[in-house]
Amino acid sequence: MAELDQSAVRPGSAPEPARGGPEDAPYLEALREYARRNPGRFHVPGHKGGAGADPELREAFGEGALALDIPALMQGIDVGPEPTPFQRAQELAAEAWGAKRTWFLINGASQGNHVACMSLAQMGSEFVVQRNVHSSTIDGLVISGLRPTFVAPELDAELVIAHCLTPEALDRALRDTPGAVAAQAVSPTYFGAVADVAGLAEVAHSYGVPLIVDEAWGAHLAFHPDLPAHALSLGADLVISSTHKIVGSMTQSAMLHLGHTDLLDERVIDRSLTLLESTSPNSLLTGSLDAARRQAAVHGEELLGETLEALAATRAAIRAIPGLDVLDDSMAGRPGVFAYDPLRLAIDVRGTGRTGYEIAPQMLRLDDINLELFAENVMVAVFGLGENASREGAKLVAALHHVMDELPAAEDREASMFAPPPPWGPLAMAPRDAFLATQEIVPFREAEGRIAAESLAAYPPGIPNVLPGERLTGPSLDYIQSTLAQGGSLRGASDRKLETIRVVVEKA
Ligand SMILES: Cc1ncc(COP(=O)(O)O)c(C=O)c1O
Repeated sequence: MAELDQSAVRPGSAPEPARGGPEDAPYLEALREYARRNPGRFHVPGHKGGAGADPELREAFGEGALALDIPALMQGIDVGPEPTPFQRAQELAAEAWGAKRTWFLINGASQGNHVACMSLAQMGSEFVVQRNVHSSTIDGLVISGLRPTFVAPELDAELVIAHCLTPEALDRALRDTPGAVAAQAVSPTYFGAVADVAGLAEVAHSYGVPLIVDEAWGAHLAFHPDLPAHALSLGADLVISSTHKIVGSMTQSAMLHLGHTDLLDERVIDRSLTLLESTSPNSLLTGSLDAARRQAAVHGEELLGETLEALAATRAAIRAIPGLDVLDDSMAGRPGVFAYDPLRLAIDVRGTGRTGYEIAPQMLRLDDINLELFAENVMVAVFGLGENASREGAKLVAALHHVMDELPAAEDREASMFAPPPPWGPLAMAPRDAFLATQEIVPFREAEGRIAAESLAAYPPGIPNVLPGERLTGPSLDYIQSTLAQGGSLRGASDRKLETIRVVVEKA
């Protein structure tokens, strides 16, 4: 038998533990080192580092990216002397955000919410949850079987948007839910409102339960002193962070940060995470998290400083356009708004006599401007940590001038007709039980009194009116219908026209 050339295999078989500090990206570097060696790739994926890929895919993604598409359980990357580069990358992320432990997620912040719910279900069954949590938390309730007690966020009647949960509201909900194992709040919101996380944490801890914060929109907050403080630094116990939204990792990558807390078990979170993750985590997503952490930790303050300056100038330029206004720090102090995150540029269009539903599609048609979100009164443009914000801000301002010149003038529209939503119906069964129950589809008008098997959230303001497991009430059904009749929209429903609704078949 021919002797193996040991030098050819040694790089893959005898790695050193990973070292390095914030300036390094150990996982990304390990991937690149593997690709550089041009090793024998007798493993998945079948495109073999790009050699076997469709030529257009190779051209579109670039050979470099495909060469770094490397599976799990590879020596010198996530196997070998500890810490492996994969472990070290997560340690560096924990250091950057001040966590006891950080996990990289390859199914977005959605996965973080699923993991949080699965981990809590080990501790009991009652969970206090902000009513307008992201749908992934509702899915987490379905997966885990937790029974929610919902708490309403503060509603901004003027802008007809929902802000954050207040400590007082959380206190009432926890008092009414003696068996609660945890509480969850969302901060910042889509519109940039930041909750009083320190106050929420104090309340949760006074009941002996952990505070989970869905900080999907706030991964950048840790990196500039002029931004509102981030949730971990204010006492949150578990933080879900959608790193791809603003900090610049690739879409679908996110992080879960465990605080320095005794209220949650790290091993349970770890096990829940593997349950809810592919056994083939994508190395490009993971590598992008490692790199995004480095960029934020090393250059975040400088980059964010430039972005904040550019956004201040962009806000001033938008304000100078007749009829337009922007949300800013002055929001802080309104009910449910403790502080404001300026990286969302929320444009108040009420003074134009037009709605966001009219303006945003015209901006797309005229100038190929794609906004993150538009509603009746407010349109939201998102800015990232490292982009050229002054150039992009100028593009946005020019497009706003263009659209306002093109749109025929409108009479000042009346103040919003949208009334605050009525109270939601009682929870008749846990969301999981409703999801798994035998279901039927009934005409919308005959649904009153039935148990919903789906969610219905009328926009504005987007606070769910109905969630799986709740009994449908007449006022909620009327409210949804009248919101739609006034030009609002509906999320969650399987029948967007709302002629029918999916309900649970109750045994006699
Ligand atoms: C508050 C909140 N949480 C969680 C998510 C899910 O994030 P991801 O898309 O990373 O799964 C979103 C997505 O928009 C969100 O807004």
